[in-house]
Amino acid sequence: MTDAARHHAQSLDQEDPLAGVASRFYKQPGVIYLDGNSLGLLSQHAEAAVLGILNDWKQFAIQGWTEGVHPWFHLSRKVAGLLAPLIGASATSIALGESVTVHLHQLIASFFQPSVERNGILIDDLAFPTDRYVVESQLRLRGLEITDHLKVFASDDGQTFDEAKLINALADRRLALAVLPSVLYRSGQLLNMKRITEAARQSDVTILWDCSHSVGVVPHQFELDGIELAVGCTYKYLNGGPGAVAFLYVHPDRLVQHPGLAGWFGCDPTRQFAMESAFHPAPDAGRFLLGTPQILSLAPLLGALQMIQQTSMQAIREKSLKLTGFLREHVQARLSHNGVAIVTPFDDSRRGGHLALRHPHAAQLSLALRQKGVVPDYRPPDLLRLAPVPLYTSFSECVRAVEILEELLRTGSYLETSADGLVT
Ligand SMILES: Cc1ncc(COP(=O)(O)O)c(C=O)c1O
Repeated sequence: MTDAARHHAQSLDQEDPLAGVASRFYKQPGVIYLDGNSLGLLSQHAEAAVLGILNDWKQFAIQGWTEGVHPWFHLSRKVAGLLAPLIGASATSIALGESVTVHLHQLIASFFQPSVERNGILIDDLAFPTDRYVVESQLRLRGLEITDHLKVFASDDGQTFDEAKLINALADRRLALAVLPSVLYRSGQLLNMKRITEAARQSDVTILWDCSHSVGVVPHQFELDGIELAVGCTYKYLNGGPGAVAFLYVHPDRLVQHPGLAGWFGCDPTRQFAMESAFHPAPDAGRFLLGTPQILSLAPLLGALQMIQQTSMQAIREKSLKLTGFLREHVQARLSHNGVAIVTPFDDSRRGGHLALRHPHAAQLSLALRQKGVVPDYRPPDLLRLAPVPLYTSFSECVRAVEILEELLRTGSYLETSADGLVT
């Protein structure tokens, strides 16, 4: 790597408006962390929020539900209020309490209402496995044969989608629902949610978006864009911590829907402790909650969102595009002759927050990089994902990561690494 590349990176770091934010995260000295699209780092804010909730538990015990700095009974709605501006939604359209998987089950159980004519669900062949498992099990629960009622939209190249073809597939009159990703978890392709949603509505198909790989790194305007249903992870770019609760979103016009799966935390909060046997759903998206929200997993998310609130999604997206664009240029210049291909779309409007590289020995490269202090992740069979996170990754770290990868490829030393067993 040339000195020019390092100097260029340093000057980009100097003019980076988010550069100061990195010091609020716990970064291991000497480690370049490029895996924030799997698990975001712990921030001081998240840590303080967890300690605050633990302290309330210590001090108030059962009364912590209604007393303390953040009474637990209202915590899910409070966190919804912090998340709302990041996704362009009203707080009342958002609920947080379970994993993405459970929220997907809930929204399909609530909004998939097969009729004689329309009784199919569309999913894509690159979907995150849990999305597919959920859709198939929901069809089975209704007694609908997978072979007849599941339509799988296939990618032409095994990495990305042609949006026009996807829109065409959504025009199928037998479909009632589609489950699609905002950003493809492998290639990092960003889909035009507004365009696809509008086209699907013309065909009366509701889309349930999985925004796990876009929330916190790509700004959303759910309400303006007419997004009807969505879910998303909070432990990736939102830095909510391992197992942090996910969110679900329901457009205000669809909030009249009775939950397919009912639980006591879906009750109208003003009546919940009346302990009635009749279920009276909450007026907001909280009606889709099930049991007691996971307070100790909401806590770090509360702190993480309070920190993000001090920045802006626009600044985050601008830096993210610069980082992935910068990384791409260096990968192209230094690694393309070493058998590395970039599968993430180049166009800014089609790129999420990470860069996916293809190499036949991606698993060994991923492990060898970790041994050298660079943390990427690996997705079988041959993808190495690098996520430079705008809140805590610098341009200089991107240059250094490419230097290390180049050295591994040049010397072939990664071939000595055994990739048997679990590779995350
Ligand atoms: C796109 C996508 N959907 C769903 C999930 C699963 O989320 P959860 O474990 O909260 O159910 C993940 C997890 O990484 C994901 O990347």
